[in-house]
Amino acid sequence: MNVLLIGSGGREHALAWKLAQSPLIDTLFVAPGNPGTAQIGRNLPVEVLAISQLVEIAQHERVGLVVIGPEAPLAAGLADACLKANIPVFGPTAAAAQIESSKAFAKRLMIEAGIPTAKAHIFDKPDSAADFVRASGCAWVVKADGLAAGKGVIVPESVGDTLDAIRTLSANASGARLLLEERLSGPEVSLIALCNGEHALPLPPAQDHKRLRDGDAGPNTGGMGAYAPAPHLTSADVTDLMAQIMLPALHALKRAGMPFCGALYAGLILTEHGARVLEFNARFGDPETQAILPLLDGDLLATLAACAGNGVLSDDLLRWTGDAAACVVLAAEGYPDTPRRGDVISGIESIDDPNVLIFHAGTAWKNNLLTTAGGRVLGVTGIGATLREALMRAYAAVDRISFPGMQYRHDIGAKAMQ
Ligand code: AMP
Ligand code: GLY
Repeated sequence: MNVLLIGSGGREHALAWKLAQSPLIDTLFVAPGNPGTAQIGRNLPVEVLAISQLVEIAQHERVGLVVIGPEAPLAAGLADACLKANIPVFGPTAAAAQIESSKAFAKRLMIEAGIPTAKAHIFDKPDSAADFVRASGCAWVVKADGLAAGKGVIVPESVGDTLDAIRTLSANASGARLLLEERLSGPEVSLIALCNGEHALPLPPAQDHKRLRDGDAGPNTGGMGAYAPAPHLTSADVTDLMAQIMLPALHALKRAGMPFCGALYAGLILTEHGARVLEFNARFGDPETQAILPLLDGDLLATLAACAGNGVLSDDLLRWTGDAAACVVLAAEGYPDTPRRGDVISGIESIDDPNVLIFHAGTAWKNNLLTTAGGRVLGVTGIGATLREALMRAYAAVDRISFPGMQYRHDIGAKAMQ
């Protein structure tokens, strides 16, 4: 089968790496891909939002499955365009992807389906949100309704900061509608399930690290590292969460006439009263995927094709090795605000540990030198029998890689080690 994978991040390099291991694969095309995916498949210089061009390529190359990585092409209707052209696609339609692209849509769906989530109030005007906050006399988590590339949530400490957050988020198009949400506390876990519209197979839960600096300090980022499986959840907990959260969400979407085929990602917070959903994403997590896929001992392509409707979604499609994996993200100087590009990356070629995988994200070849070309540059994943071993391998590899201004967290997985 020819496969067209959409995206260019570390998540897509990890997906390409795993898809290419399938006995079903013929040619793997990646649009636009990165220097890492170029080592595995054929990169095509087409942007992720060039929908008609991507569909034409899929038709011309007789692609049997399109796999969509990032949220923007999902929200823009790439899956709809593939389905219209009768091309099987792993990734939801724009309607179903609203579970990520509109936090108000997701909140209403969760309430309708009885899914445990933080209580929230939805406002179409910033002034009404501000009046509500003043009247309540307390701080609220402020969320922009629309896609905001990881910059749509502010967790203020005071009424004044909440009012500032309303002003900041409502200044962007994504914040034309706002949510004010009760603040919850507890460890956060990412649970991702592969869905065919009706049924779902859970992946091992993962722990992301969203803040830029050690000790959860600094600004929010797309994710500075992740490990799996997350120790907070047993497999019995995952079974419960599938029944309380993932399947009710899928069934509510189906009832609403928007069946969800793709990776459904629940961002959970484990409060003392139980798990609550903070957000849904309509895709694989980045960098969670770089820590989850190395634990998969099974055929990812067969599983994604089954989700897209070419087969049965049976439990034995996915087996897990029982190992642990940890991914440390190496980010560019200036990330997350204004990452610097063009710094020369050295040391990757000296890493020969078979239990280490280097996933490219923002990298580019320039005059035969590998250089930085984005905010998150590389994801270094270590695999081991235990999380401790996985972390030791990942950090030993990180020590060999360098580029000017390289930023990374030294404490990925540290809380789990205490
Ligand atoms: P989200 O994009 O909705 O997952 O929010 C980004 C981050 O903001 C989350 O990973 C949490 O750390 C934090 N956050 C979001 N909602 C809440 C909430 N209701 N209470 C506490 N923290 C939150
Ligand atoms: N790592 C968080 C996300 O993919 O949204």
